[in-house]
Amino acid sequence: MLGNFSYHNPTKLYFGKDALEYLGDELQHYGKTVQLIYGGGSIKKNGIYQEIMEILLACGKEVVEDGGVMPNPTSERVELGAKRARENKVDLLLAVGGGSVCDYAKAVAVSAYCEEDFWEKYYIRFEDPTCKILPVGCVLTMAGTGSEMNGGSVITNRKQKLKIGHVFGSDVMPKFSILNPEFTYTLPERQMVSGIYDIFNHICEQYFSGEDDNVTDYLCEGLMKSVISASYRAKKNPRDYEARSNIMWAATWALNTLLDKGKTTDWEVHMLGQAVGAYTDATHGMTLAAVSLPYYRYILRYGLQKFKRFAIEVWNVKEKGSDEEIAERGLSAMENWMKDLGLTLNISDLGATPDMIEGIADATRIQKGGYHVLTRPEIVEILKASL
Ligand code: NZQ
Ligand code: ZN
Repeated sequence: MLGNFSYHNPTKLYFGKDALEYLGDELQHYGKTVQLIYGGGSIKKNGIYQEIMEILLACGKEVVEDGGVMPNPTSERVELGAKRARENKVDLLLAVGGGSVCDYAKAVAVSAYCEEDFWEKYYIRFEDPTCKILPVGCVLTMAGTGSEMNGGSVITNRKQKLKIGHVFGSDVMPKFSILNPEFTYTLPERQMVSGIYDIFNHICEQYFSGEDDNVTDYLCEGLMKSVISASYRAKKNPRDYEARSNIMWAATWALNTLLDKGKTTDWEVHMLGQAVGAYTDATHGMTLAAVSLPYYRYILRYGLQKFKRFAIEVWNVKEKGSDEEIAERGLSAMENWMKDLGLTLNISDLGATPDMIEGIADATRIQKGGYHVLTRPEIVEILKASL
C-alpha cells in the first residue's frame, strides 16, 4: 500500500426492495421545502414519481418541482436550478434518477448561494465551495456512475464545448441515497449496458496504476468479475433481481471513495470520453467504451505486468506465451465481452467526425496517475484509432 490518507464517507445508504420506505425517516431531518429534481419523464412512466410524491406530501413537505434535467446536465440548467433553490428557500434537494440528476443536484447545492460564476469557480479553477451548501438526497433509478455515494458532479458547458467533473468533498456528498434495484428494471437495454461499462471502467481507472501490492487491486478484480457475471444475466433477463442488485451495489463500490485509497489512479479514459461527450452529447458509458480499447492497447506496453495480471485474474487467460501475448489476450477477452453487451466501440457511431478530432483533443485533460502520461499527439492518435 502506498501513501497517507484518511477515509470517511458520510452518505447513508438504504438498499433493497424496501429501501424507499426509509425516505420518510430521512425527510424528518430537513425543513419544509424540498426541490424534487428528476429527468425527462421516466419516473412518471414507471410510477416512481407518484410513490415519492405521496411520501413527500404525507411528510408535510412543500414540493418545488425541478423536472426535465437532461442527461449530461448543462451549466445553463444548473443556473436555472440554483435560482429556483434560492428563490424558494429550499431546504433539501431530492434527486430522483441517474447520475445526471444526482450530479446536477450537487452542482445546484454549491451554486444556489455562490456569489461568483459557479462554472469558473468550480469547473475551471477547481475551487472548494465557500458559501452555504444545500443538502442533497438521492433516489437512484439507474446504476453506473456511483454519484449516489460520491462527491462527483460532471457538468457540460455547451458554449465552451467542455464537459468537466469536479469531485467535491464530504459536505457535498449525498446525505442519504435510496437504492432499490427494481427501480432499474425499466431502463432501456442501451442505458443498462452503458451503465455496466461505466462501472467496469471506473474500476479499471483505479486498477491500472501503481506497481505495489495493494488491497485495492484485489478488490477491483472481485468487483470486475461480479460485474461481468451479472451483466450476462441482466442482459438475458433484465428482471433478474440478483443480477440487477449486484450491478447496483458494484456501481456504488466502484466509485464511492474506497478503491482510490493508496492509488495514484488513471482516469484518462474518462478524460477522453468526457471530451467526446462535450462534442457529441453521447451517453457517458458509450463514450468510454468507444475509446477504451485503442487507449488500453496503446498504454499496454507501459503497464505490461498489470495488464498481464488483468488477463489472468479477471479474464482467466492461460499463462502461455510472452507477457505481451497474455496481456493482449486479456484485452481481446474484454473486447468480446463488450461486443456481447452491444456497446458502441467507435466514436463515429456516437456522432464524432474526423474534423472534430483536434477540438476533442483540446478538450481532453491529461492525467498523470496512470502508466503513461499522454502527449497531445498521442491523444490525437488514440482518438483517430477510435473513429
Ligand atoms: O431523463 P429520464 O427520462 O429519467 O431518462 C433517463 C436518461 O435518459 C434514463 N433513465 C434513468 N433511469 C431510468 C431511465 N429510463 C427508464 N427507467 C429508469 N429507471 O436513462 C437516461 C440516462 O440517465 P443519466 O442519469 O444521464 O445516466 P447516468 O446514470 O449514466 O449518468 C450520466 C452522467 O453522470 C456523469 C456522466 O458524465 C453523465 O453526465 N458521471 C458522473 C460521475 C460521478 N458523479 O461520479 C462519474 C461518472 O464517470 C460520470 O462522468
Ligand atoms: Zn464514468
